[in-house]
Amino acid sequence: MTATALRFGVWALVYGTWGARQHPDEPVDASWARTRDQIVEADRLGFDATLVAQHEVNPAGDHYDQLEAWTTSAALAALTENIEIITAIKPALYHPVVLAKQALQIEEISGGRFGVNVVNAWFKPEIARAGLPFLEHDARYAYGREWLTIVQSLIAGRRTTFHGRYFDIDDYQLVPASRYRDRPAIYVGGESEPARELAKDFADVWFVNGQPEEDVRRLVDDVAARHRTGRRLRFGLAAFVIGRESDREAADELDYAFDLASRDVAETESVLSNADPNAEMFKTFARHPHVGTNGGTAAGLVGSYDTVAERILRFGALGIETFMLQFQPFESEMRRFAEEIIPRVRRLERLAA
Ligand SMILES: Cc1cc2nc3c(=O)[nH]c(=O)nc-3n(C[C@H](O)[C@H](O)[C@H](O)COP(=O)(O)O)c2cc1C
Repeated sequence: MTATALRFGVWALVYGTWGARQHPDEPVDASWARTRDQIVEADRLGFDATLVAQHEVNPAGDHYDQLEAWTTSAALAALTENIEIITAIKPALYHPVVLAKQALQIEEISGGRFGVNVVNAWFKPEIARAGLPFLEHDARYAYGREWLTIVQSLIAGRRTTFHGRYFDIDDYQLVPASRYRDRPAIYVGGESEPARELAKDFADVWFVNGQPEEDVRRLVDDVAARHRTGRRLRFGLAAFVIGRESDREAADELDYAFDLASRDVAETESVLSNADPNAEMFKTFARHPHVGTNGGTAAGLVGSYDTVAERILRFGALGIETFMLQFQPFESEMRRFAEEIIPRVRRLERLAA
């Protein structure tokens, strides 16, 4: 059983929804005002973290609104009290020195509640149409490894010199470093072999996409067994939750969610046709039909409140500590999760202690 309390996070609404675009009770809205209210409320409800995904261009179509991750995160840091703000970053888009400086600034604004989620990109046009090189899969990870070596050193307040294939950094120092701890947290998302190695070597937490328990067990066991020095690696899981009074009601709601999602034909086509076919996570998605992004309902957090709470504990027993959650309609389902499911999880945790 897990020794640490399980943590719950919510995906900030940077796309305007994490479910179907045609849900009658959730108009798509990627405005700053909505995400501000969403995360301020999540903070008040006691959620432990928010994940701010990074896309400059909405992968569902470049005519759709998209909220910018880093400026949003700085503002959220100023408006919240306790929630950890974890912001995704694609190394190809920012020079590591600039990104490290921004990370340290948000660490300062948040009072030590900031983390970066390093993601090595799959959505080609966003990078290629900017005239930046969209390297092939493993080369992106090689670039990301150099990039993260520099960022990790700079955000730890170390004077940094690095000469690699992609970067030349000479005697660089960023001040102030964190006043609250050694450095902001580092998360890594991605499932391929180079993603696992990156997580093993650099991450505090490795994020796994939503998928069935046995698959999560295999992934966690694989990376946990790798030799690493320093702090213990922790694990997070993405999931889309549907909790109801009964398993039957939740199953009906899932059917409805699949029906609504099936209407997003053009959007699904945009995502799939522009994704790097070598991205491991899309192979995972293809194996498990789901609603939501990053595996969504494939994690199986669909059922009665008791069922969902029990499944969360089972993932906890596999080593998952942080659950990064999606809902639809987001705000009302987020409240339901806080009211119905978190207390059940806490009760089960106490019983298991
Ligand atoms: C929890 C989580 C969050 C992610 N957030 C983003 C994101 O904000 N932007 C992005 O382009 N990719 C994101 N990804 C995708 C991956 O980091 C990575 O690009 C993808 O898995 C392809 O790499 P792979 O072949 O190693 O799986 C996320 C993945 C996970 C698990």
